Amino acid sequence: MITEKAPGKLYIAGEYAVVENGNPAILVALDQFVTCQLTAAQHQTGRIISRQYQDIELSWRRQGDQLVVDQRDNPFSYIIQAIEVTEAYTRSCGRQLKMFDLTIDSDLDSDNGRKYGLGSSAAVTVAIVKALCRFYQLTVTNEKLFKLAAIAHFTVQKNGSLGDVAASVYGGWIAYHSFDRQWLAEQQQAVDLTTLINLPWPDLEVEPLPTPKQLRLLIGWTGKPASTSLLVDKISLFKAVHQQEYRQFLTDSQQCVTRMINGFRTKRLDLIQQQIRVNRQLLARLGQLSGVSIETPLLQKLCTIAEQAGGAAKTSGAGGGDCGIALIDNRQDVKQLQKRWQAARIQPLALHVFFDQDSKED
Ligand code: PMV
Ligand code: MG
Repeated sequence: MITEKAPGKLYIAGEYAVVENGNPAILVALDQFVTCQLTAAQHQTGRIISRQYQDIELSWRRQGDQLVVDQRDNPFSYIIQAIEVTEAYTRSCGRQLKMFDLTIDSDLDSDNGRKYGLGSSAAVTVAIVKALCRFYQLTVTNEKLFKLAAIAHFTVQKNGSLGDVAASVYGGWIAYHSFDRQWLAEQQQAVDLTTLINLPWPDLEVEPLPTPKQLRLLIGWTGKPASTSLLVDKISLFKAVHQQEYRQFLTDSQQCVTRMINGFRTKRLDLIQQQIRVNRQLLARLGQLSGVSIETPLLQKLCTIAEQAGGAAKTSGAGGGDCGIALIDNRQDVKQLQKRWQAARIQPLALHVFFDQDSKED
């Protein structure tokens, strides 16, 4: 039996702007995983069992009299795509396909099945690609693993930066610059998968970041799930109508995240915190201008409480619910801050950053 796991993630900075090619974001991988067990099978029909998402929530809409399910929120779509892409790669490497059974489990959802917003779709995609590469005895570097999982994930979600896939593959703290997805779509028509995986992808950059030793990351969960793909679609609409404001947001976000990356490289917590606050304002303004509720009242409360305790706080990811984060000097009264979060019905999540010990460097 083959067991592989991949970690969840959190966005630290650069959300929304990172959806545009080459724009930077900062993310971390967390010590919560999607685990995937694969066993070779003799029978003709393989089985896929997922304990992930007990309460599957599907979005749907009407097209005439037809009910159309939004596949982007269907967890099985990521599982199937991850298998299809990895097997296409396996075939292009001249290997024979085999039968197997797959069992998937996830810590990335709360006990009652509500999602935390920690990137379980990216993690399940990465875990499956890893397990299948081992099953077919294909050695892949982190870069190749990222590319395979990114193709699978993007085929399903169709929007988004793929930063969550990068965090799940590389682990730790990373600076991520999104690649040109238009280019990828064109190349998918023009070249075979092995060639595509071996090509450099325009604008793609992943840099592991060192951290100041007194830096402590705190995570607060609002208890309210938010759909990233829907929120990204809404901002995309805003982009079309308010091009000038949108371009300004991109420029400001890029400057902010670049400064924050320098704060990490030089291990200056004060600089990092300063830019967390700037990024919070940029996202809040984007929310106001577009009418999209990125910083909800509860996320605003989360930030206010953290700021009063000496931390720098912001929404994480697309916002609208899910989690908020605070970066704080670990000599501050962290317990008190968490108590105040709890009193405000914000659940502190006792998660830590995950560093992959046996990851394959490129
Ligand atoms: O809400 P999350 O954690 O899935 O993060 C979404 C981050 C965005 O920048 C808004 C979208 C993306 O794909 O990068
Ligand atoms: Mg989210």
